[in-house]
Amino acid sequence: MSMSVQPAPATAPSRKAAADRFGVIARPPLEWNAEIERETAHLYERVAHHIPKIEWPVYAPYVAAINRLKKERNAAILAHNYQTPEIFHCVADIVGDSLQLAKEATKVDADIIVQCGVHFMAETSKLLNPEKTVLIPDMKAGCSLSESITGADVRLLRERYPGVPVVTYVNTSAEVKAETDICCTSSNAVQVVESFGVDTVLCIPDEYLAKNVAAQTDVKILTWKGHCEVHERFTAEELQAYRDADPEIEIIAHPECPVEVVEMADYTGSTAGMINYVRDQRPPKVLLVTECSMASNIQSQVPEVDFVKPCNLCPHMKRITLPKILDALCEMKEEVTVDPAIAARARRAVERMVNLKN
Ligand code: 13P
Ligand code: SF4
Repeated sequence: MSMSVQPAPATAPSRKAAADRFGVIARPPLEWNAEIERETAHLYERVAHHIPKIEWPVYAPYVAAINRLKKERNAAILAHNYQTPEIFHCVADIVGDSLQLAKEATKVDADIIVQCGVHFMAETSKLLNPEKTVLIPDMKAGCSLSESITGADVRLLRERYPGVPVVTYVNTSAEVKAETDICCTSSNAVQVVESFGVDTVLCIPDEYLAKNVAAQTDVKILTWKGHCEVHERFTAEELQAYRDADPEIEIIAHPECPVEVVEMADYTGSTAGMINYVRDQRPPKVLLVTECSMASNIQSQVPEVDFVKPCNLCPHMKRITLPKILDALCEMKEEVTVDPAIAARARRAVERMVNLKN
């Protein structure tokens, strides 16, 4: 994955590792007993559609231990909508799409943030909370979009297109964000692109997001060849086959999908937009063209909706598990840090986005 997490420069004040600052706590015993059953019964209700009762004794001791340790450490768990149901429903304090998580990260009242998502999300939380300790349960949780571009690439683009504003998708490293004017997410990309009031904007690195934005604005969009490895696999033929099998099915797609896929969708939006659409419209049958934990996470809120999930898993999101979250809280690992010189410039790009008026 991208090496955007830099060791602090020699001139920066040396900082003890998180384990030294907060201390290590031994992993608690993970037993299934009547107390754990009582303590977690209300949480099981939220995932009962997904986790068979017979398997709950495997999950519940982790859920109980994580929730106790969060209090002890004064930690908050921020989880993306693609996290598995036992994380999303049972241990997360805040859930959302990339924009919601970035905004909530600025308000979190905790000493420690445990980011259940991928590395660029943890970096974004760190940028917005430089004084807080940010942990990610697996440092290898990367992103194909984030890895498609470097800061040097952005500098070359600026040389090639002098004066053209650079909008960077939040799915990028801090090093890339530092080279750009403003960030965007899938839920505000059109607004961000139009906020400059100019006729041409670079929107990088997601080629498909950029093309899907271009279809909604008069601004000319220049882009990059980055793709999400989960969403690029959906095809118009595949969607047509679902529609042929059931003409009533509603198709809702994420804007990281190829243009011809988005063109077939009844609704396109960020993961939070997709959730709101299903909650508000309650379509009898819906095809979610995105990472497949999404459907599992919304199912309990809309039991009457029949979800068809063409199951594309994000291997990076799936690196985050209950045992790794517990270890993160016990051992205070893996800590996400950003070179202060890069952080100051990257933070400006994220804050410009967060502060954009609706
Ligand atoms: P949003 O949750 O912002 O829609 O992004 C989806 C995604 O792929 C994040 O990695
Ligand atoms: Fe990156 Fe795609 Fe995974 Fe999101 S779903 S983290 S964009 S690879």
